[in-house]
Amino acid sequence: MKDGSFPIEQFRTTKTPFYYYDTALLRRTLDTIKTEATRCGGGNYHVHYAVKANANRKILRIISAAGLGADCVSGGEIKACLDAGFSPDKIVYAGVGKSDWEINLGLDADIAYFNVESIPELEVIDQLAGEKEKVARVSFRINPDVGAHTHANITTGLAENKFGIAMADMKKVIDIAATLKHVEFVGLHFHIGSQILDMGDFVALCNRINELQDELERHQIRVKNINVGGGLGIDYQHPNEVPVPNFADYFQTYRKHLNLRPDQQLHFELGRAVVGQCGSLITRVLYIKQATYKQFAIVDAGMTDLIRPALYQAFHFIENLSSDEHKETYDVVGPICESSDVFVKAFDINRCHRGDFLALRSAGAYGEIMASRYNCRELPVGYITEDFE
Ligand code: LLP
Repeated sequence: MKDGSFPIEQFRTTKTPFYYYDTALLRRTLDTIKTEATRCGGGNYHVHYAVKANANRKILRIISAAGLGADCVSGGEIKACLDAGFSPDKIVYAGVGKSDWEINLGLDADIAYFNVESIPELEVIDQLAGEKEKVARVSFRINPDVGAHTHANITTGLAENKFGIAMADMKKVIDIAATLKHVEFVGLHFHIGSQILDMGDFVALCNRINELQDELERHQIRVKNINVGGGLGIDYQHPNEVPVPNFADYFQTYRKHLNLRPDQQLHFELGRAVVGQCGSLITRVLYIKQATYKQFAIVDAGMTDLIRPALYQAFHFIENLSSDEHKETYDVVGPICESSDVFVKAFDINRCHRGDFLALRSAGAYGEIMASRYNCRELPVGYITEDFE
C-alpha cells in the first residue's frame, strides 16, 4: 500500500468510528528520529517515547522494535511497555502522584530511573526500595520556570504549574538524596510544555539548564543524565505536506545550545511528534443538516473519540475520503449531547453525503488514548495498515 493513502475499500466493511494508523509513516518518522538524534548526539542522545500520547499495543510494539525507550507516567503504562517489549533499562517513570504499588512495580522491573517530583515522594521511594533491599535510581524533575508559547492547558514548566521541584530547592533535594541509603541521584529532568513549534522555547530551556549545571558544579555536584522532556509540535494545518516533524532542527537546537559535559547523557521524551501524524480518526457522515445560516455535517464520531477540539480548541484537518466534488463549508459535529461536541466550524470540505468517510487527521497522539465511554459509547478500535492487508 502506498505511503499516505487510505485503504478505503476495506474501510467499507469496518465499523466506524475507528482510528487508523499509517505504519509506513510511523516507521519513516522513527527512522528520521534515530538518524537525526545520532547525527547530533552520537550515542549520547536517548529518545524515550512518551507513552501517554498513544498506548495502542500495536503502535507500542513498532516503537519498541525501533529501539526507542519509554517515558511512563503510571503503573499501567509501565505494564503496557513491558508487555510491548521495551527494555526495562530504557523505561523512565514520571508523575506528581505515584502510588506505592506503582513505585514497587518500577522497583521490581528495575526501570532506568524515577523522575521524582517532590521531597515526600523521594522519601517514600527510599523507604519502599529499602524494604526490597534495593537502591532506586532517581532523577529530579526541576520546574525551570520557562514558558512555552502553546495552549495554557498544556504548558507545564511555569512556577505556577503543579509539576516538579522549584529551582531554588534543587540543591537541597540533591543533598537530601545523598543522606538516603536507598536512592541514588542520577539526573535532572525538565519539561516545559507540548505542541511547541518555536525552537526559541527550547533554547530558553537550554540556557536555564546551563545556568543550573554551572551552579551545581560550583558545589562539586555532577549530573549523569539530563532529561529535557518532550514537547516538539506537529503541523496540524498541513498533515500531507509536513508528515514528519523537523527533528533535524529540534536535535540541533539542543546540540548548539545545551552545554553537555563529556560523558553526560541527554534524554528526550517525545510523544506527539512520534505518533501524531500517522493517525486519523475515521468517521462516517450520518446526516447533512441545513440550518438557517450554515450547514452541519453530523458524523458518527464524537468528542468521546477525539476530545482535543472540545478540550483545547484544537484544530484537526478534515478530509472527505469518498468525494472529490466541489468544496462546501460545514460545521462538522458529533452525536454527543454536549454543545462542545464540535470538531470544526466553517471548514471547507469536498461536498459531503450520507455514508461518506471523513478522516480527522493528525489524531495519532492524544486521540485514542483519551477516548471515553460517556453516553455509553463504545471505545473506538485502533487499526494499523497491516490489519487491512
Ligand atoms: N514528558 C513529560 C514530563 C510530559 O508531561 C509530556 C506531556 C511529555 C513528555 C510528552 O510531550 P509531547 O512530546 O507529546 O509534547 N493531551 C494534550 C497534551 C498533554 C501533554 C502532557 N505532557 C494534547 O492533546 O495536546
